[in-house]
Amino acid sequence: MTGIFDTHAHYDDERFDEDRDTLLQALPQKGVCRVINCGVTLASSRTTLALSHKYDYIYAAIGIHPEDCGDAAESDYDALMELYCDPKVVAVGEIGLDYYWDTVPKDVQIKAFERQLVLANELDLPVIVHDREAHADTMMLLQKHRPRGILHCFSGSVETMQEAVKLGFYIGLGGAVTFKNAKKPLAVAAAVPLDRLLLETDCPYMAPVPFRGKRNDSSLIAYVAETIAAVRGMEPQVLIDQCRENADRLFQLK
Ligand code: NI
Repeated sequence: MTGIFDTHAHYDDERFDEDRDTLLQALPQKGVCRVINCGVTLASSRTTLALSHKYDYIYAAIGIHPEDCGDAAESDYDALMELYCDPKVVAVGEIGLDYYWDTVPKDVQIKAFERQLVLANELDLPVIVHDREAHADTMMLLQKHRPRGILHCFSGSVETMQEAVKLGFYIGLGGAVTFKNAKKPLAVAAAVPLDRLLLETDCPYMAPVPFRGKRNDSSLIAYVAETIAAVRGMEPQVLIDQCRENADRLFQLK
């Protein structure tokens, strides 16, 4: 398959330290045409930006992740502001709410999420949103601030998906659709309007079956596309092409 657009990757992760450049140089030959790397802290946002400068096909999303916002200082947000001027930055992310891991108090997460939603609107950039076990608060804040963007690794119900689509949001699906007991993600994959679907890895995590538990990379999106295309009764390559067009539209590329 060709023309794969991975809308969510973490190639700055230490699990790529051993062979990062070899892998990133090889991905275009494996059908990958664009990747958005997502920062989760100031430091990883800087690394993300450096990767986007080294590789033409990599773009940067920068921001503070909900699990990391407890440690973020005011000076981190100031430093991020300067990075947003870079032309390779196409989104504010990865931001959001995570009520699964009890590491950062809810009110701290909500404050960090809201300030970055406001910022995204000011910069006229889309947001890449992480929502884990926090659907109600996430939707409430998206309703309030009305940014453009994507709900990444979408884990909600078909109803929540429809609510998000009504708000103009895109739905990101990855390896989870291939897992056993993937009833909910598959129902979403079948029901989401074709012009709102995006493909992603969240690599190094979430490798699709038959690589579940191993290190993920953007070329494995082919397996995700096959699974989603099967439930929708379409050709995987047609799905990949449509999802790439969707991502180009959202991130205003090409
Ligand atoms: Ni992520």
